[in-house]
Amino acid sequence: MKTILKAHNISKTFKRGDINLDILKNIDLEIYKGQLTFIVGPSGSGKSTLLQLLGGLDTPNSGYIEVMGDKLNEMNDKGLSQFRRRHLGYVFQFFNLLNNLNALENIVLPLILDGQDSKESENKARILLGDLGLSDKSGNYSHQLSGGQMQRIAIARSLIADPHVVLADEPTGNLDSKSAKDIIELFSRLAREKGHTIVMVTHDLSLIPYGDRVIHIKDGEIVKDEILNQKN
Ligand SMILES: Nc1ncnc2c1ncn2[C@@H]1O[C@H](COP(=O)(O)OP(=O)(O)OP(=O)(O)O)[C@@H](O)[C@H]1O
Ligand SMILES: [Mg+2]
Repeated sequence: MKTILKAHNISKTFKRGDINLDILKNIDLEIYKGQLTFIVGPSGSGKSTLLQLLGGLDTPNSGYIEVMGDKLNEMNDKGLSQFRRRHLGYVFQFFNLLNNLNALENIVLPLILDGQDSKESENKARILLGDLGLSDKSGNYSHQLSGGQMQRIAIARSLIADPHVVLADEPTGNLDSKSAKDIIELFSRLAREKGHTIVMVTHDLSLIPYGDRVIHIKDGEIVKDEILNQKN
C-alpha cells in the first residue's frame, strides 16, 4: 500500500477564554492511495478539525502533514493554495458555496482560479452535473437549491480538478438514502477504478461496507483503526 497522506504526531488546541481545549491529541495517521477511508466518531470528537488539518485549511499546534511527500508546513501561502487547488478536493460539512455564483460557476471555480480554459472547465462541470443528477440546475443560485442539491454541487466542485485526494466532511449528511448511495458508489468507483484517495467523515454506518478502512475518533484520539478490505 502506498501512503499518499501522512499526519506526523499532530495536535490541535483551541482557546476558549483562558482555557485551552485539546481537540486533537498526538495523531499519527497514514492514508493509503486508492482507498476509501471513513472517519467516524461522536459529535465534537474532532473529525472536522482533523479533516481541515489534513487538507491544509488549518494548521496544527504541533506536528505536521505530508501530502504526496510534500510537507504542507513548508509551503508559503501561495504555494499551499496552488497545491490545494491542484491536488486536493474538499466537501465541507456546510457546503461553503458562494451565494453570488450559480451552481455551474461554483463548480468551475477551482479551475478558473487555476487559470484554466473556461469553456473546457464548463464542459467538465456539465458532465459532473449530469453524473450527480443536476443537469437542470446549472443556473441556480444557492437560495434556489435544496440542501441535498447544494451538497451535490459541493461534491462536484471537489471533483472538478480531478484531485489526488478528496476530503469529504459528511458529504451525504443532507441526502436521502438513494442519493447517498449514488454518492458513495461514485466515490467507491473513483477509488477503485481511478486510484483516487477519498477520506470521508460520516455518521451513516450503512455506508461503511463501501469503504476500505474505518478510523474511529473519540475525544481527539484515534481509538480504533479497522481495515475492511485488504485489496491494495
Ligand atoms: N474554531 C474553534 N474554536 C473553538 N473550538 C472549536 C473550534 N472549532 C472546533 N471547536 C471545538 O472542537 C471540537 C471538535 O469539533 P469538530 O468540528 O472537529 O467536531 P466533529 O467531530 O466534526 O463533530 P460533528 O460530528 O458534530 O461535526 C468541538 O468541541 C468544537 O466545539
Ligand atoms: Mg464535523
